[in-house]
Amino acid sequence: MKKTTYTFLFFITALIGCKSETLETHIISTPIIAKAASVQRINTEAVGQKFAIATQGDHSTKAALQMFSMGGNIIDAAIAASFTLAVERPQSTGISGGGFFLFYEAKTKKTYAIDFRERGPHLVKENMFIDKNDVYQKSRSKNGILAVAVPGLVAGLFEIHQKFGSLPFEKTLEPARQLAENGFPVYPNLSEALLDRADILRQDPSASSIFLAKDLKPWPVGHILVQKDLAASLRKIQRKGRDGFYKGSIAKALIQLSKKENGLIDQMDLDNYHVRWREPLHGQFHGYEIFTMPPPSSGGVHVLQFLNILEKDNLAKHGIFTAKSIHLAGAALQEAFADRAQFLGDPDFSKIPVKALISLPYAESRRREISLDRARKANEVKMGNLQHYESSDTTHFSIMDDQGNAVASTQTINGWMGAGIVIPGTGIVLNNEMDDFTAQVGTANMFGAIGGKPNSIEPGKTPLSSMSPTIIIHDQKPLLSLGAPGGTRIISCVAQTILNYLEYKLPLYESIASIRYHHQWQPDILQIEMPGPTKIELKKLQDMGYEVSLSPVGCNVMAVAREGNNFHAVADPRDIGTSASE
Ligand code: GLY
Repeated sequence: MKKTTYTFLFFITALIGCKSETLETHIISTPIIAKAASVQRINTEAVGQKFAIATQGDHSTKAALQMFSMGGNIIDAAIAASFTLAVERPQSTGISGGGFFLFYEAKTKKTYAIDFRERGPHLVKENMFIDKNDVYQKSRSKNGILAVAVPGLVAGLFEIHQKFGSLPFEKTLEPARQLAENGFPVYPNLSEALLDRADILRQDPSASSIFLAKDLKPWPVGHILVQKDLAASLRKIQRKGRDGFYKGSIAKALIQLSKKENGLIDQMDLDNYHVRWREPLHGQFHGYEIFTMPPPSSGGVHVLQFLNILEKDNLAKHGIFTAKSIHLAGAALQEAFADRAQFLGDPDFSKIPVKALISLPYAESRRREISLDRARKANEVKMGNLQHYESSDTTHFSIMDDQGNAVASTQTINGWMGAGIVIPGTGIVLNNEMDDFTAQVGTANMFGAIGGKPNSIEPGKTPLSSMSPTIIIHDQKPLLSLGAPGGTRIISCVAQTILNYLEYKLPLYESIASIRYHHQWQPDILQIEMPGPTKIELKKLQDMGYEVSLSPVGCNVMAVAREGNNFHAVADPRDIGTSASE
């Protein structure tokens, strides 16, 4: 069914008082569609009864669909989507990257939280990006070999498939391999990323030969991007599974590059890479059960903290885009990000006070600190690099099926085009996940986020993430699976989408397409997507003391909801994502 028809029916259904089997629709708030989401794109929304998929790419959604049509299960579909995203979005994710995977298994009613994020190589030093004058050399944690952390994606996807997949592993990689072999037209976001990173890509002959033309200009929109070396690498992984990446010729080429460029990664790092199966975080919001990613993601902690702080305010009574609602939500985000900077890091290295951070009494005490009519200033205001606020690195997909299973997975190579270097002869773009560590306490990373001691660089440690794959359960069945790319903005975007859907009762499409706001404590700016709230509400926010920036928030939510007997998938219309269902 087309989006407009579907939305119209949703409103009619709501107005005549019918209730969806799973979600009451007693309040319909008025969305304000973000300018970036107002372009009508095809296939962003799908409704079906057997399964539904939303990914950030057309080929990736089709790859997942193909697995279902071959008789595969939700995990086969998720693995196929992951590898295809690695080909289709080389600016966002890739087989040198990592990610988090949340899986609600209907059979056991258990939610698994699988962490296959990159880890610090064993030779790293806490101050490796600080020069002798005590100055943080920012470009070294972003560009080139020292920015690269030990990749986890292939190990993670292989292990998940071993445990839960049904089709042969090889088949789940085939759509990705074919796409790399045959190519696809460069689309605007990819072209923008190549342009943004052209200066770095130009310095690496392997990256230039794939992503730049002969005159070293980035490929324009419409150019067919063929990645033959990447296709051959995928073939090796098809044949050898995990070992296809961590041993053999790919590993050898990576280690050789690392040696040549004075990098730190060696074979011991690859041999010692372990996927971590973690306990998901659990919270409740208005009676809905929320399962989300624990540390080393900060995302889950702060999504829950945000919802806890605001639950008793029943924001719907103030209206969705009023100054009061935006202020309360913005102030809750400000508090969450201040805590993130202080407390969050890898739980295998420091004690992270998760229980306290997501407890209701703590949320109540934090809520009491927020006045109803005044913005608070951060003590030390440091501006982030606003140039990076529009980047769309990282990717997310969500899937649900009629067996009652749900997947939410967020995967990344960190910044656009990762470290800007490619392992020679493999087509694999290396991540720059080392930038997610706190290189220097009190100094901002590429997302303008300040980090604390628990996120300092250490061998084998996982850099702090904001990736927030989340699954919401209601009536003992998955109700909503969602997540987003976008660095620190992920937390705000996921939290607000939940608020839009569960508190303001917007339809799923509008929950995603409505304007978003983001406040990350430092920089001390309330960012609101264009066109923003009404002029009157905007003025009220400014009068409260907010410095408001009407600018893109820069994340894209992919979600699937169970609505009655239907699964409803929405890929954020701000980007090229698509949905499919049957
Ligand atoms: N690399 C972005 C994140 O993990 O939050």
